[in-house]
Amino acid sequence: MPNPLPALLDAQQPDYCLEQPFYADAGIFESDIERIFGRRWLLVDHVARIPAKGAWFLYEIAGESIIVVRDAGERVNAFFNVCRHRGSRVCLESAGHAARLVCPYHAWTYGLDGRLVGARKMSKDFDKQQFGLRPCAVQVVAGLIFINLSGAAAMDFTAARTAITPYLDLHGIAEAKIAARAMYGVAANWKLVMENFLECYHCLPAHPEYCSVNSIVKLIGDGSERASMEYLQAWERWKAASDPDLLAREVALSGPADQGLDPQHPYSIPHAHGAAHSGPVYAAMRTLIGEGYQTMSEAGRPVAPLMGRFRRYDGGKTSVSVDYFGRMTAANDYAVLFKFIPVSAQFTNFEIIWLVRGDAVAGQDYDLPRLQWLWHVTTTQDKTLAENNQRGVNSRAYRPGPYSDLEDTPARFVRWYLQQIDPRLGGA
Ligand code: FES
Ligand SMILES: [Fe+2]
Repeated sequence: MPNPLPALLDAQQPDYCLEQPFYADAGIFESDIERIFGRRWLLVDHVARIPAKGAWFLYEIAGESIIVVRDAGERVNAFFNVCRHRGSRVCLESAGHAARLVCPYHAWTYGLDGRLVGARKMSKDFDKQQFGLRPCAVQVVAGLIFINLSGAAAMDFTAARTAITPYLDLHGIAEAKIAARAMYGVAANWKLVMENFLECYHCLPAHPEYCSVNSIVKLIGDGSERASMEYLQAWERWKAASDPDLLAREVALSGPADQGLDPQHPYSIPHAHGAAHSGPVYAAMRTLIGEGYQTMSEAGRPVAPLMGRFRRYDGGKTSVSVDYFGRMTAANDYAVLFKFIPVSAQFTNFEIIWLVRGDAVAGQDYDLPRLQWLWHVTTTQDKTLAENNQRGVNSRAYRPGPYSDLEDTPARFVRWYLQQIDPRLGGA
């Protein structure tokens, strides 16, 4: 069968959602894994998941299994969970603690740095040094662990690190603890899950709770000139009342200036779409929640102790994203990490990790149902929206439709995506 990709790319209309095979086809999914998830930086967890030397967990993505392990000190390593003898999985549980990683098949033994340190009955000229576990590139940024499956060929992370670090430091993310985590299995292609996450066109009709907390969203959804003006005035009032130091240098983002922040759409973090080889796409910014709300909770009251440099509730929230798949949203008293984990062409795991201050005590300083309320309710609604979307997209009647003025972020994401997978552009 001829490769349908160039024909599909030619059929794609600008600023329309994607042709059906991009959301449904197993072959395109394989190519997404290879050209996107195999090359971009992926947020895998917070360092508190592996607090001590020898602690490890598995990060599973699209059939690959990655061992993420704490070595001596602060060093975090990541290796493909594939034995260099005959290819068995080395670690079989989802997490554990070990001084050495021992393959269950013939007991080849690896150090926490991936080096092969034990292999019985091999020939005299066998060189152990040639058979270490295959590494992924790793970056730990203020407590967040990012990996890149392309190892030594990974694109340079320096600019992204420099840009997002002040925002993570502001919230004390390096010193945070993991209060809870939840995995939402979504029967939809990862791009439908991502597009849903990126736009707030659906917020008014589909997310009453999110809109009540982020009341300002109603002004954006209104779309009138008066509402836009009201929104901008509210934003200016909030900025004027905030400690400038806590604005963490306002907005940081990669990519050309014309892809920058549009103040009409501040609730979808801006997404630059850089050139195919320009390094990770990243963005970071602070905005306000909703006037009268101290944090992103049901009644707007605090749900955990203040984090990082905050000494009072300023009603702001911070959003950070790296390469689309690693995202954090933080209020003054808690933060959430979002992970997009493709499983198959029509199934995606969406994981949320809730972070609170490192010394906060469950049941005393925070209450999990109150802490998790907003993002649990909203994500449950989004799961249904994305699954309904997939069912419709699978129909023979499906034809791509145009994005609205409130969907500039998915439109940019789709342009970026097409750029990554277009073989005529050389890919990412
Ligand atoms: S496959 Fe791992 S020791 Fe043989
Ligand atoms: Fe949503």
